[in-house]
Amino acid sequence: MDHLLSKGFFPRNCGGHPSVAGSLNSKKQNDSMKSVGKYYKLDPKKIPQHVAIIMDGNRRWAKSRGLSVTEGHQAGAKNLTRIVDYGQKLGVKHITVYALSTENWRKRTKKEVRGIFNLLVKIVREKKEEYKKRGVRFFVLGNFQAFPLRVKRAIGEILKVVLKHERMKFNVALNYGGRDEIVRAIKNIVKDGVSPSKIDEKLVSRYLYTNGQPDPDLVIRTGGEIRVSNFLLWQLSYSELYFTDTFWPDFGPKELEKAIAEYQERARRFGK
Ligand code: FPP
Repeated sequence: MDHLLSKGFFPRNCGGHPSVAGSLNSKKQNDSMKSVGKYYKLDPKKIPQHVAIIMDGNRRWAKSRGLSVTEGHQAGAKNLTRIVDYGQKLGVKHITVYALSTENWRKRTKKEVRGIFNLLVKIVREKKEEYKKRGVRFFVLGNFQAFPLRVKRAIGEILKVVLKHERMKFNVALNYGGRDEIVRAIKNIVKDGVSPSKIDEKLVSRYLYTNGQPDPDLVIRTGGEIRVSNFLLWQLSYSELYFTDTFWPDFGPKELEKAIAEYQERARRFGK
């Protein structure tokens, strides 16, 4: 199957969730559409360009297994690289994940934050070359200047990787808050002396960390909470929101396909 995965195409009759796959199972649709997806029939023309994820539930996942918080985040980090790989195979062009909010950074214990930093450094070191080959460009959203030197160095190394063919942007939100991002944008607009008559939505977007990237089409939150928690407040104005009780470490390829299948069933109206 892996050679099929790497081409981004899967067999047509691959089953899947009855409510979604069933509705796409009609002969007419089979004839007119080559589907992607291993578990659900996904329309390749409607794969969300940008998927943003609030990865919640690492600690509860660990607790339910009698494991430590660190082990929960380790499982979360492993799942993150799995989902980035799988998202790329499905044709997603931008993945943004919420790894550390401004609140997490201030309020979680030093030990826990250190554990998350260690995982970040590990991902960056282990994946740098592979991401370069696969055209995955790494970005950080948020203020990481206050991080320990070794973390800043590791981030700096991956940020300066030059890609021949960029295929995907992988944004990791670290010490990130949506309101903080907007305040920072306002300050920079003022600092740059932009005249009020020149300020419009496009200009504000350019001053955000996501400058130049499309807004998320689909925002996924795992772990059962139904809120956006200060994530991409400007950018998610028209995003489709998907919530699941599944804890982040268990949110695997099948769950990602399920979220995309539901997204494909929704009619996006953009206010029309
Ligand atoms: C939310 O679950 C998760 C986090 C605050 C940290 C996310 C970190 C990772 C997925 C691993 C490291 C990845 C990078 C890129 C550094 P939670 O801890 O709030 O769990 P809970 O809701 O069960 O308490």
